[in-house]
Amino acid sequence: MTALTRPGTKPARPYFSSGPCAKPPGWAPGKLATHSLGRSHRAKIGKQRLQLCIDLMREVLEVPETHRIAIVPGSDTGAVEMAMWSLLGARGVTTLAWESFGEGWVTDAVKQLKIDPAVIRADYGKLPDLSQVDWSTDVIFTWNGTTSGVRVPNGDWIPADREGLCIADATSAVFAQDIPWPRVDVLTFSWQKVLGGEGAHGVLILGPRAGERLESHIPAWPLPKVFRLTAKGAVSEGIFKGETINTPSMLAVEDAIFALEWAKGLGGLDALRARADANAAALGAIVQQRDWLGHLATDPATRSNTSVCLTVEGADEAFIKKFAALLEAEDAAYDIAGYRDAPPGLRIWCGATVETADIEALGPWLDWAWATMRH
Ligand SMILES: Cc1ncc(COP(=O)(O)O)c(C=O)c1O
Repeated sequence: MTALTRPGTKPARPYFSSGPCAKPPGWAPGKLATHSLGRSHRAKIGKQRLQLCIDLMREVLEVPETHRIAIVPGSDTGAVEMAMWSLLGARGVTTLAWESFGEGWVTDAVKQLKIDPAVIRADYGKLPDLSQVDWSTDVIFTWNGTTSGVRVPNGDWIPADREGLCIADATSAVFAQDIPWPRVDVLTFSWQKVLGGEGAHGVLILGPRAGERLESHIPAWPLPKVFRLTAKGAVSEGIFKGETINTPSMLAVEDAIFALEWAKGLGGLDALRARADANAAALGAIVQQRDWLGHLATDPATRSNTSVCLTVEGADEAFIKKFAALLEAEDAAYDIAGYRDAPPGLRIWCGATVETADIEALGPWLDWAWATMRH
């Protein structure tokens, strides 16, 4: 067999997109509960299902009772911006950026809220010096930079006695990486990443100090209705019990419940993390065996176990586009070209809904695409 011969085995589920990500194994639309559909989300059944979804997220993510959980509009972006617009302005702000999404929150702080934040940056593949962060300010960062595959290694750099709020966009980290909840005042995510859920809603988790800020600080700027978490100076507690601000997609909620029950059935957070780690290790072995592949994240301690970003020797954007298209045409791998703003390369999702055998089966197909491109 030459490298140009198509490998005999294809990944059974060639879904390697970094969002929306692969559905949980065994997922089928007919398996979703639908009795809450076509009903008011404020009817008893709707409220029960929304509350169940919140309870399951608390259980699987091991969120302590100190932290409130809400399902909010606008996916992860909605949840981050709701937090920024509601909480910032009371003290100085630091924004950290080492890839495209972190850069988006810098733009919000600088150009939209105009709060003159301190900005700490690093290039794609690197993490900024976290010891530079001034924790007397509110701090915003992405826990896992989805477009560079660089994550914070842990929460040890976040002081327990910080004065400012720790605001973490963790959409590609939760359910795959450890979150030390007492160190986090605000955490956001959306279901379509590690859970393989549907895009639509964001999840906003607020610790007690964020709750205090909501009740003690009135933002200097207007707050659209979809961002309002307080009424008459008090936290709107109903929002954290499934009384959503506006109409949710109950189909997306039911889909999230399916994924959370799958996660719980596997053994919860530890099992999800182990699956992501095993996938990332399998991909790491593939990379190590090929001198034309490398990791964009230079330091293994900061390397993501979900959105794994790879360099390809000599590849430019056009090369990557063609390489990814070859694999897609063979139904061997979908959506593995790197993010449009990132250096040209591959990005292969290793989150818990992906099977390790499918990552392993991908290796020979990467060789085939490489050989075909160079033929
Ligand atoms: C780190 C990070 N933040 C924000 C987003 C935007 O998420 P959403 O589309 O759920 O708003 C993404 C999407 O990939 C992401 O990876």
